[in-house]
Amino acid sequence: MTTQLFCTSCGEGYDSLEPVWRCSCGGLLDLECEPDFPLRKIGRRKPTMWRYREALPIDSDVHILSLDEGFTPLTPLAIGDKRVLFKLDHLFPTGSFKDRGASVLMSKAHELGVNKVVEDSSGNAGCAIAAYAAAGGIGCEIFAPEKTSSAKLTQIRAYGANLHPVAGSREDTAKAALLAANDAYYASHVCNPFFLHGTKTFAFEVCEQLGWEAPDTLVLPAGNGTLLLGAYIGFSELLKCGLIDYMPKMVAVQTESCRPLHAAWEEKSSEPCAVTRKLRPTSQAIYESDESETFAAIKKDTFAEGMAIAKPMRGRQMLEAVKKCRGKFISVSEDEIRSALSLSFGRGFYIEPTAAATVAGVCKYLSDGAKPDEMVVSAFTGHGLKDTEKILSLLENR
Ligand SMILES: Cc1ncc(COP(=O)(O)O)c(C=O)c1O
Ligand SMILES: [Zn+2]
Repeated sequence: MTTQLFCTSCGEGYDSLEPVWRCSCGGLLDLECEPDFPLRKIGRRKPTMWRYREALPIDSDVHILSLDEGFTPLTPLAIGDKRVLFKLDHLFPTGSFKDRGASVLMSKAHELGVNKVVEDSSGNAGCAIAAYAAAGGIGCEIFAPEKTSSAKLTQIRAYGANLHPVAGSREDTAKAALLAANDAYYASHVCNPFFLHGTKTFAFEVCEQLGWEAPDTLVLPAGNGTLLLGAYIGFSELLKCGLIDYMPKMVAVQTESCRPLHAAWEEKSSEPCAVTRKLRPTSQAIYESDESETFAAIKKDTFAEGMAIAKPMRGRQMLEAVKKCRGKFISVSEDEIRSALSLSFGRGFYIEPTAAATVAGVCKYLSDGAKPDEMVVSAFTGHGLKDTEKILSLLENR
């Protein structure tokens, strides 16, 4: 498959056989490819995300790093008088949907002959990159905020990665990783476009599981937007190849504690708003100041640790994608996240608090007037075993 990297700021093109992850102008890179979907072949293949082989940007099969991930169940759940289909992405090998991106990105690193990668993450992406680095025998340095749940930090170390806990904010962690990326390949789930060409398999699976049809609506998390943008790329490719005839509407979920994109959406701004500690009493926009201390204060207040991204690097693209598919942004409160967690547990789904923010978004979207016959698809994005301490505190305070 032909693939080409290009800069989203200046348009400069790069050969995808170069170990490049950012334009010389500093701009973010996107990847363009020409996917193919040979449906009969796909139908006969193993139930993993690699069944869409002709749509995944790795030249030779020998470089594929796979733990037989993906093709997660699409399971119906009744919420009120409505029915929603949830992808059980908490059942991935490392316990989160990030394996979709990590499998493709680390396969690309293997193809490029990279011997060491650097990544920064609020936890789950670090776990996923570390697992696939282990599978490929690639050295791995993971930077994560020191306040990340101990299960995630332990998991990263267990795969053999060097873990660098960073004091301060998520942004401080990213800065530390960027420095380290001077002499290694930056396997960033946010900057590196190959990650998004793994998360796009979410769209392919949903579409195939619905009999090669698109759902009406997707309710997805909007932290750094790796699932949101991946789904957008995936459905766009399906549309381009004529497998579906419309784009699903995307409802992007943020938390009231940290909502730079929802605030921008309300202001009709094309750039994310900056976030400050001074939250207004209701769910009003949060502006100004991006000092690290400020962000740490906000993050401490939210139950959804993986979603509290004050400055989403691809925020502009997220706003654009949601606009193009006639979607919207919504924000959920801490109480709504707790209720959604209890609801999920009560149905037998053990998910982590960050994942519950998306479920809370589904509940909010349904109660805000989804049509009775609307086909809504969402995801359980991370496993409950990732954050026992927080779940325990929830149980004790209930
Ligand atoms: C379990 C879980 N759900 C949702 C998200 C949000 O995903 P994104 O930041 O890609 O929007 C994350 C991010 O780490 C996560 O770990
Ligand atoms: Zn550029």
